[in-house]
Amino acid sequence: MNKLLYIATFGCQMNDRDSEIMAQLLTKESYFPTDDIDAADAIIVNTCSIRGKAEQKAYSMLGSLRRRKKQNPQLIIAATGCVAQQEGEKMLARMPHVDIVIGPRLIYKLPELFAQASKRDKGFVATEQVSSFVIPPFLPSLDEGLPYKRFVTIMQGCNNYCTYCIVPYTRGREISRKVSDIVSEVEHLVAGGIKEVTLLGQNVNSYGNDQPKDVRTSFASLLRQVAAIDGLNRVRFTTSNPKDLSEELMQCFVDLDKLCTHFHLPVQAGSDAILKRMNRKYTVASYLEKVEKLREYCPEVSLTTDIIVGFPGETEDDFAATMDLMEKVRYHAAFSFKYSSRPPAKSCEFEETVTEEEKGRRLAIFQNRQKEISLERNNEYVGQEMELMIEGKSKVEGQWAGRSKSNHTVNFKSQDTFIPGQLVNVVIEEGCLNSLRAKLLVK
Ligand code: 5AD
Ligand code: SF4
Repeated sequence: MNKLLYIATFGCQMNDRDSEIMAQLLTKESYFPTDDIDAADAIIVNTCSIRGKAEQKAYSMLGSLRRRKKQNPQLIIAATGCVAQQEGEKMLARMPHVDIVIGPRLIYKLPELFAQASKRDKGFVATEQVSSFVIPPFLPSLDEGLPYKRFVTIMQGCNNYCTYCIVPYTRGREISRKVSDIVSEVEHLVAGGIKEVTLLGQNVNSYGNDQPKDVRTSFASLLRQVAAIDGLNRVRFTTSNPKDLSEELMQCFVDLDKLCTHFHLPVQAGSDAILKRMNRKYTVASYLEKVEKLREYCPEVSLTTDIIVGFPGETEDDFAATMDLMEKVRYHAAFSFKYSSRPPAKSCEFEETVTEEEKGRRLAIFQNRQKEISLERNNEYVGQEMELMIEGKSKVEGQWAGRSKSNHTVNFKSQDTFIPGQLVNVVIEEGCLNSLRAKLLVK
């Protein structure tokens, strides 16, 4: 008998992809996705623990399910993702109505774990850090929107141990998937109509480093193999640690037409003292050099970044250095966050010197200036022709939305009908804060 599965996903694209994989795996157990939580026979909360707030969100969603479980004891509730990994038994003690607490590396065992859960009357934990990478490569693709683009996980985990970051503890050490599995997965997706893939990893530039040197394939070389797949129109990737950004990768922007001209290059801070304490292993000067080089290879690249304000010990001068760096780079967009202490990440041992109020003040200063820069940057596109991949109807009546290679959402008016994934050409008429407005070119 068919059953309904509701998944709430928090956090990054890695989690989005994991949610897709879980949904796909459970179709084998006759679970099908629903958007209606009231109708669900099983609920998965795929959690994120990157900052304290994300963890609170996860717990508050899980807490709100207590009543449902009481009303319907057959309901299966699973907590997955980074908070699940980090909390394990502690989560079960706090949320006894949860049936299974599953770490990110064990989601491939979901059907088995669900079968166990339906036989037990007490919750259990599955959080061991298995060291093999098991992605079921060929799963029936689910018809649930976005039929033209997909995420493809190429590696899991992280070895960098930035002192603020919980990811190495929740997602474990780096493991790369086999090149042949990744290429087969993309070929399979393309055969099913997918036009764009985004290759995902916590630090894609260290792809392959866990393999012996003589058989290793670099990320740049993987990218070339993926881009060579016929029928695929666009390739993106995320995320990169600036310390590992190589010229071999920059060269891909010259050689591969399908590689989208957007680079997310998280800098985190603009002061060498803070970068050192964050264990980022680059300096402001070496970061700026890489940005300059990247722009030589790909002058049209749109750059985005992540920034943390209020890291322990961040002085007014350190913060001014971050502001200075943003003026030098002039990012197209930036994601900025207040520092949040995340045990057992190393920075928890550092004394917190910046008050919440001061963090808020610095964040507002940063964000206000970034808005101005984004608007200026987006207006630099006015008059340029761009190729868009149609995403669907825009939120504004009578308009369509597409995505540019530079990763901008671009809206244009048209009475015609377009199919998601279709390519069209436009000319940009106006830059807005988070999007561009364009006119359709009829060719
Ligand atoms: N506090 C605040 N921001 C953080 N990030 C990661 N860990 C923390 C933390 N402890 C931010 C970084 C990272 C992004 C995904 O989240 O900027 O690049
Ligand atoms: Fe959140 Fe990081 Fe886990 Fe992604 S990997 S879900 S951002 S903690």
